[in-house]
Amino acid sequence: MPAAETVESPTIAIVGGGPAGLMLSHLLARRGVDSIVLDHRSRTEIEHTHRAGILEADSVRLLVDTGVSDRVLRDGDEHEGIDLRFSGRSHRIHFKELVWESVWLYPQTDVFIDLADARARDGGDVRFGVTDASVEGIETDSPIVRFTDADGTPGELRPRLVVGADGSRSICRRLVPEEHRSAYFHEYPFAWFGILAQIPRVAPELIYCRSERGFALISQRTETIQRMYLQCEPGMAPDAWSDEQIWEEFAARLAGEDDLTLPTGPIIDRAVLGFRSFVQEPMHYGRLVLAGDAAHTVPPTGAKGLNLALADVSVLAGCIEDWLGSGSDDALAAYTGTALQRVWRAQNFSYWMTQLLHTTSGRSDGAVGDFAAMRQLGELDTVVSSRAGRTYLAECYTGWPQR
Ligand code: PHB
Repeated sequence: MPAAETVESPTIAIVGGGPAGLMLSHLLARRGVDSIVLDHRSRTEIEHTHRAGILEADSVRLLVDTGVSDRVLRDGDEHEGIDLRFSGRSHRIHFKELVWESVWLYPQTDVFIDLADARARDGGDVRFGVTDASVEGIETDSPIVRFTDADGTPGELRPRLVVGADGSRSICRRLVPEEHRSAYFHEYPFAWFGILAQIPRVAPELIYCRSERGFALISQRTETIQRMYLQCEPGMAPDAWSDEQIWEEFAARLAGEDDLTLPTGPIIDRAVLGFRSFVQEPMHYGRLVLAGDAAHTVPPTGAKGLNLALADVSVLAGCIEDWLGSGSDDALAAYTGTALQRVWRAQNFSYWMTQLLHTTSGRSDGAVGDFAAMRQLGELDTVVSSRAGRTYLAECYTGWPQR
């Protein structure tokens, strides 16, 4: 006999238990608003998904100042700048000196662990491993979320508002009728080949490197494990290159007059990351709002994805509180306007960093010689040789002030 269905009425139902969903649940709880978070993945599965690792200073403040955890201050690494490397030379962009801000290397996995622990500590209702989640009635005042709990019990939520924080393959965003949504999309002719390697730290900060053979990024995880990426063809299989070829490719792309050398070691994880820019707007329709990757995706070059998700929910928590207090839909509509301003700035920056550093094969129409490559070097030179250029990069990379 199937187990009896339980019907619950949280104020807010949050579909998606990644950083956006958990942070929203945490911020709402601080405002006295209850929520239930659902995710189809298990906690272990989310913890083992490798994602980007850079937090803007405001994201760090959000974690620390709202009482999630201050572990980031102990286990994270403050970076006061990055290296832009091209034509075999590195150029430091000194964020702290230029805009008085830094960023923190603290992988998304750790952000997730801190948030999941904080929700458990504070008695938050987070359900991992649920299946068959579906949402209906977002055009009415009483939306319904149906799902099957991890133990097989069917459940039903009757919240006042549903938040779709269910990532880039969001089911929620498709609930907005086509005539009420606009999608903006840009596809890139390359992808990133990402590895985790057991080697010591190469440099104190991140190196973003443009070379004729394509882009390379040297990031970090621990004293003994580093995260690194190579520009590659989209659709490339993760096992297409041997370990030897990968190390040769890094060496060739990083080669320069300063003899920067990369130690080699065991490669313990490999993955190919697709590249796209995507925005769906508005981020609010009826009794549904979207947050994080469910509403927008950026290419990883600007390290903005996680920061945007946290900025979204920081704005959203206040808008939901206003909406519950006033009963006026204007409060939810305000969310879209405020969040999208930052989203489009981040879209622009991520696109700009991407085109600044990646190489495309083939000539553009009407060009004689490799015009695209020479123009790109001209742009890189302009950025690093002027304080205004470096400041622009520093301002965007460290993030715009949260409101
Ligand atoms: C990472 O550490 O995974 C990382 C860092 C910076 C980026 C992208 C990824 O721009």
